[in-house]
Amino acid sequence: MPYNLLKGKKGIIFGALDENSIAWKTAERIHEEGGEFVLTNAPIAMRMGQINQLAEKTGSQIIPADATNLEDLQNLVEKSMEILGGKLDFVLHSIGMSVNVRKGRAYTDQKYDFTTKGWDVSAVSFHKVMQTLYQAEAMNDWGSIVALTYMAAQRTFPDYNDMADNKAYLESIARSFGYFFGKDKKVRVNTISQSPTPTTAGQGVKGFGGFISYADKMSPLGNATALDCANYTVSLFSDLTRKVTMQNLFHDGGFSNTGVSNEVIEKFSEE
Ligand code: NAI
Repeated sequence: MPYNLLKGKKGIIFGALDENSIAWKTAERIHEEGGEFVLTNAPIAMRMGQINQLAEKTGSQIIPADATNLEDLQNLVEKSMEILGGKLDFVLHSIGMSVNVRKGRAYTDQKYDFTTKGWDVSAVSFHKVMQTLYQAEAMNDWGSIVALTYMAAQRTFPDYNDMADNKAYLESIARSFGYFFGKDKKVRVNTISQSPTPTTAGQGVKGFGGFISYADKMSPLGNATALDCANYTVSLFSDLTRKVTMQNLFHDGGFSNTGVSNEVIEKFSEE
């Protein structure tokens, strides 16, 4: 149910690939809440064409940008301000990719060119996005920037591979840049640590089916869905969370603070 929480707010949404994407659901919810935005994704992802449907549905324009490429990002930020008619209030970074995972390399057998590409796309891109926004003076006071992360940054999930390290790097960038964005521009920066979610990126993790059901059974409220995540992001883009910054916010139905659940114990009980 819409509450008009983002009426008059403008922003950029990275990472809507298809209708399962967390960024896709977030774009739909932001639109329902009265926000306006530019959609962006890597040029290669555009070729799949699905993002056009989302743009049509939400009355948005699309500007392709590889989030690791500074020229693309400068062009994106400049054009977005032209299209939206002013500075920005929110930015969602919903981007992740590990070449080692894609190519089936084990954590103990990484190809370091792949490792470097993965942290550039999944973590340093967040710094690049924020540095571009910061230097272009593109954010309004009390703006809000969110990136999506996973708890493998704190605890080991073996099949999450080098994405665990990329997420730790991403979360650190949120804290470090959050300081400067807060002090200098009154802008907040947070990461949302989301439950496993069946998307293209999520399903790339080996054994995802077992992983997602285990997380669901371990979480008192069950896994948070992509739509739940979209709702949480709306709250972080709204004026109701102005003093929340430099946080890694667990959005996981309670998983991260649960030692074990009765359902999981039952699975291991002999009788
Ligand atoms: P997705 O596959 O729908 O989205 C990933 C997006 O990253 C795609 O749109 C892809 O085109 C984009 N991308 C990749 N390389 C890029 C580049 N160089 N420049 C610009 N964009 C690029 O999957 P999902 O799950 O919606 O992922 C969104 C975020 O949520 C990621 O950061 C992911 O790690 C995070 N996350 C996902 C979870 C899951 O289980 N699906 C759990 C926790 C966090």
